[in-house]
Amino acid sequence: MTALGGRELVLGVTGSIAAYKAVYLLRELTRQGARVSVCLSAHAREFVGALTFRTLSGHPVLEDLFDPRSEDAVEHVALAERAAAIVVAPATANLLAKAAQGLADDFLTTLLLAGRCPVLMAPAMDGGMWEHPAVVANVATLRRRGVVVLEPDRGALASGLSAQGRLPEVEAIVEALRAVLGPRDLAGERVLVTAGPTREPIDPVRYISNRSSGRMGYALAAAAGRRGAAVTLVSGPTALTPPPAATFVPVETAEEMREAVLQHAEAATIVVKAAAVADYRAQRPAAAKIKGKRDLTLDLTPNPDILAEVAARRTGAFVVGFAAETHEVAAHARAKLEAKGVDLLVANDVSRRDIGFDADDNEVLLVDRWGGARGLPRMPKVAVADAILDAVIALRAAHAAPKAVR
Ligand code: CTP
Repeated sequence: MTALGGRELVLGVTGSIAAYKAVYLLRELTRQGARVSVCLSAHAREFVGALTFRTLSGHPVLEDLFDPRSEDAVEHVALAERAAAIVVAPATANLLAKAAQGLADDFLTTLLLAGRCPVLMAPAMDGGMWEHPAVVANVATLRRRGVVVLEPDRGALASGLSAQGRLPEVEAIVEALRAVLGPRDLAGERVLVTAGPTREPIDPVRYISNRSSGRMGYALAAAAGRRGAAVTLVSGPTALTPPPAATFVPVETAEEMREAVLQHAEAATIVVKAAAVADYRAQRPAAAKIKGKRDLTLDLTPNPDILAEVAARRTGAFVVGFAAETHEVAAHARAKLEAKGVDLLVANDVSRRDIGFDADDNEVLLVDRWGGARGLPRMPKVAVADAILDAVIALRAAHAAPKAVR
């Protein structure tokens, strides 16, 4: 299967003279086996009719979010969840501005906000607009957010001017899309990810917890799903939306997490324990709210070490653990890897403010049980997630039948 075969895509077309080239792009995407839903802006319809796109895609064209007779209005949410990628070609300066600002005043811009998938934009614009500081700033904003914005080609424009502003060639857009979609190298795998903190009740309104936004774990679940795995995400309370394709198992306490993990670990081929499990819980949580302002002693009891338990079961799954350390990261990571019996340990230095907790970026050290240790450069958590999965695949391939030699 090619990178595009069987993938569900959205092709957004906006109002540029280059809109007719989107027809060729659509033909190429469907030829390569993608299922494409086309979404036209009102201005795009002035250039190319919806019938052309409907005929070539074999699907209704999404046009009017606000037409009460249209079923499209609810479709945008479902489509946003299903799509493997959204490609906007041509993307006008107007569309880039709206997307950068987060406006949602038609079907395509709403989809861009509702989607959680990668987004590729192929701009086209005349009259030197590409160099205008407003466009430059919008493109920078989008790129910072992870949107892939291609450079338009240089050459003759519709107005007769020669400048940078031509829609990139169809082959270049398809090639960029392949890179955006990435490999399906986890197809057939069942990946179990834990994420977020756990909450251990002290009384009905108070709890003990750990600092954790859950972002690293959710990024891992999303990356594994994008790469073709069936994903189960067991998560403590976070403010995040789980990847729509994942089986989501919400939990509160470490004991609930343990139960969910052990239930799903049997079937998993890869287990990634990114959760920040509270090490202790109250021995006897109060049934009613604790009143008064006086000294209080809580009796704590250690929680089960879920990671060590999963690793000890030797189910055949590749087991990845995390370590949050404040000093001597490499030495502590190696010790934790051995103590817990995991295959790969991802360690980060939580004493740094620019990475780790709540940050967009992370900078981690990968320590494996075959003696390898490799520091990754600082990068967005989404990229760290892919790098961890790359390491799992590489280590498993290099050490076939790992459990037999343990
Ligand atoms: N973990 C777990 N169950 C626990 C505690 C931790 O499964 N009860 C897992 C975490 O999900 C993480 C790894 O163990 O993958 C490391 O957690 P960490 O808190 O760094 O290690 P601890 O075992 O608590 O060691 P220490 O407090 O000494 O650093």
